[in-house]
Parts: sequence; C-alpha cells; structure tokens
Amino acid sequence: MKLIVAGSTGFVGAEVIRQALSIPTITSIVALGRRPMSELKNTGPNADPTKVKSVVLEDFGSEYPESVKEELLGADACIWTIAITPSQLKTTPWEHTVKVCRDFAIRGVETMAQLPRSGGKNPFRFIYVSGNNAERDQTKRPMILGDYCLLRGEAETLVLECAKKSNGAVEACIAKPGIIGSPEKQTPMLQKAFFAIIGLPKIQVSEISAAMLRQVVNGFETDTLVNADMVRDGQKFLTEHKL
Ligand SMILES: NC(=O)c1ccc[n+]([C@@H]2O[C@H](COP(=O)([O-])OP(=O)(O)OC[C@H]3O[C@@H](n4cnc5c(N)ncnc54)[C@H](OP(=O)(O)O)[C@@H]3O)[C@@H](O)[C@H]2O)c1
Repeated sequence: MKLIVAGSTGFVGAEVIRQALSIPTITSIVALGRRPMSELKNTGPNADPTKVKSVVLEDFGSEYPESVKEELLGADACIWTIAITPSQLKTTPWEHTVKVCRDFAIRGVETMAQLPRSGGKNPFRFIYVSGNNAERDQTKRPMILGDYCLLRGEAETLVLECAKKSNGAVEACIAKPGIIGSPEKQTPMLQKAFFAIIGLPKIQVSEISAAMLRQVVNGFETDTLVNADMVRDGQKFLTEHKL
C-alpha cells in the first residue's frame, strides 16, 4: 500500500514514517510537508528507506499543484499530523491557527478524495490526528483552551462529514491522544502535575504511531480512536511487527 504522512517533519509524523519503513505491507511512503523531511533516525534492522519520498508543498491552503498531486496519485491512506499545537498558540495569530488546524486538513482530505486510484478496492483511509479534549459539540466550551478545543472538534466533524459525503470513496478516522511522550522528550515536573490535575491521559509516540499504522493497514474498526485504545492497539502492533 501507498501511505501519505502529512506533517512529516513533526514529532508524530517522523515516528509514523520511521515505523512505516519496517512494515512490509506499506510499499511506498510520501512524506508530505512544507519543508523536506528530516533525516531518518533510529530506523530498525528491517527498515527500507528507499520506500520513502519527501514531497514539499509550500502552501497547504491553496489548490495543490499538479506536480504534488502526481506524487500523491495511487495512495491508499493518509495520516494527517499537521497542526498548530497548544504550545504554539501564544505566538500564532488565531486566524492562522484556524487555517492550519481546520482548513488545511479539509483541503487535504478533499484533494486526496478526488485523486484517481488504480484498482483501489478499499476506500481511501484518512486519519486526522486531533486531541483528547477536542470538543465536537460547539455549544460546549471546555474550561481550558476552550476556543482551541472547539476548533479541533469542528475540524474532526468536518473531516468525518467529508468522508460521509464521498459515497464510500473515503473513510475517515479521528485519533484523540492525550499527552504524547517519548523516552527522549521529558515533560517538566510542573507541566506533568498540571496534566495530571486536568486528567489528561498519556501515550508514547511509538504507541500512537503504531496504533494509527495498524488502522491504515488492517482497516478502520471505528471512526474515533481514544487514548486508551491507541495505547493497547499500539503496543500490540509494536510487538507483532517488532518495531
Ligand atoms: N505532542 C503532543 O503531546 C500532542 C498531544 C495531543 C495531540 N497532538 C496532536 O498531534 C498532532 C501532531 O502533533 P506533533 O506533536 O507532531 O506536532 P509538531 O511536532 O509541532 O508537528 C506539526 C507538524 O505540522 C506542520 N505544520 C505546522 N504549521 C504548518 C503550516 N503552516 N504549513 C504546513 N505544515 C505545518 C509542522 O511543519 P514544520 O515542521 O515545518 O513546522 C509539523 O510537520 C497535532 O494534531 C497535535 O495537535 C499532539
């Protein structure tokens, strides 16, 4: 299968690519980003780095150029990790956050839904990485990061609606992780305490990446992946594939 990883330079995107290199069913990976993919690190013994191609799209808000569409042609799935994260909110104008978190993803799924697929028996599988506290019900404003949680929830709804309207061409799934950690990324004590107080669950970047790869490879079992499911499924997939 051919997989697109949008946001290939990010924390989650890079780990998804690292793992996908060692999954034999995934024969081709498009590392899509506004700048070239970072250097591949810690690839496993079974990784095939020749499967991945870095594709640069400077502006995710405009119609994709034909040259980029050609690179995406024949893809079976996309894992969408592009977003402005909460830590960037203070330094990012709100209109830009809306564009990146919502409009870029909608343009992405709509563009990919329209690409011709040769012999694709299964629908195109699109995973939008959101967050545990994203709120789809626009009448409920969460106490913490209210506008941001509503924006991410609205994006979730729009991605799911896009799939519903596609007459079976696209299947969508929303991943809702809590705090994503890694052995290399230590969360400061104060931040840890804050997350514990507000009840945010935790997941390792290896677990969420494996859980999403499991979904795109095996097919979607649900349209929403919650943190606990991703921890369980991710650990299972990591063991099965020795990732
Ligand atoms: N990390 C966490 O603890 C956590 C927790 C819950 C949910 N999530 C969600 O998981 C997803 C991935 O998060 P992450 O931690 O991997 O974030 P990240 O490391 O900041 O990666 C975000 C990606 O988005 C891209 N991006 C940002 N602005 C862009 C723009 N204007 N045009 C094109 N690309 C743009 C970045 O590209 P550049 O590298 O070029 O900036 C990067 O590839 C996000 O949806 C996030 O909200 C993360």
